[in-house]
Amino acid sequence: MNKSALILGIESSCDDTGIAVVEARADLSYSILSNCIASQDHRATQGVVPEVAARHHASNIHDTISKALSEAGVSMADIDAIAVTTTPGLIACLQVGIEAAKALALSHNTPLIGVHHMKAHIASTFAEHPNIAFPAIVLLASGGHTMIVRMTGERGREQYEILGQTRDDAAGEAFDKIAVMLGLNYPGGPEIARLAAEGGEGSQGGRGGASGNPKAFDFPRPMLHGDESTAYEFSFAGLKTAVLYTIRDLGGIAALSAQQKADVAASAQAAIVEVLVRKTVKAAKEYDAKTVIIGGGVSANVELRETMQSMLEVTAPNATLIVPSPGLFTDNGAMIAIAASAQALQGEWSDPFALRAVARTPISE
Ligand code: KG4
Ligand code: ZN
Repeated sequence: MNKSALILGIESSCDDTGIAVVEARADLSYSILSNCIASQDHRATQGVVPEVAARHHASNIHDTISKALSEAGVSMADIDAIAVTTTPGLIACLQVGIEAAKALALSHNTPLIGVHHMKAHIASTFAEHPNIAFPAIVLLASGGHTMIVRMTGERGREQYEILGQTRDDAAGEAFDKIAVMLGLNYPGGPEIARLAAEGGEGSQGGRGGASGNPKAFDFPRPMLHGDESTAYEFSFAGLKTAVLYTIRDLGGIAALSAQQKADVAASAQAAIVEVLVRKTVKAAKEYDAKTVIIGGGVSANVELRETMQSMLEVTAPNATLIVPSPGLFTDNGAMIAIAASAQALQGEWSDPFALRAVARTPISE
């Protein structure tokens, strides 16, 4: 095994072009030397249009790579391995990152490692917690995925088993769609969280200033009280419809006061958080988890992290909660580099000619 490896991480699976330089050491500790993001503005379409996002990646990726190298104070000649997201994600977007990675790998004679995006969301927590205790229960909640995963093995040789996942929308997607109903911008998660915490503008304009009441509306907690076979499955489509009907029954979005909007946001957030937390804590207890990890963009949600912490303390006190460090919640290049670090240190490379974009690959493969 090599003592350390300097890894260039490339992420382009959705709408963020993330490029990072990470130094990984043999004890699997890390230094993030740079972590640059070129974000895209999808407010006009209230969501990501794949071809548009791919074009943005193509125009941003080379400048973002240069920026990441220069912020890290290194050149391509110093890079020991290039890690790139190959799956899951939007094919046209993944392809931009993969083609850039291949071009760099072949022109600089640098080895390449293909990375699974959801494994990388888990790896984002390793930046500050290189030695987590196994078994771990992982809640992965992003814009495209929501699942509970049991992680066994050891650091660098993890095995993943999906205990359950969503049958329809992902948790992040539910936040995004409910945000559109409330007239908020994309991405909706941070907007809903802010509106719930701080209030917003009402029908007469002017800021409400008051935080939302999470108990104002009793939105459904889907799949919470089903039988054991669905204990770790999710469904958020019904919640979305319930919010839609509530807003309609109040006279439509234009009629809502600042307080009512904040109440809808807080109540919808509470419903999503309760389902995510209860199912994760149940799995932690059932599988005697030593660690619970939250990964994916929704892990940025403060309410989710705080509720998870307090419920674990009561129900599964043997489990330590670990979340990504600030800056690593949503998609980024550092998590891709960290996910590839064990392979990079072992010298296990992907064949650059065989690397290709795959829309969906189960994390357990
Ligand atoms: O992992 P991510 O960056 O991209 C995907 O792989 O999908 O996750 C993006 C998702 C979006 O749906 C966004 O609304 C959600 O994460 N998100 C949040 C928060 N910040 C981002 N959801 C709830 N609360 C937040 N603070
Ligand atoms: Zn993601």
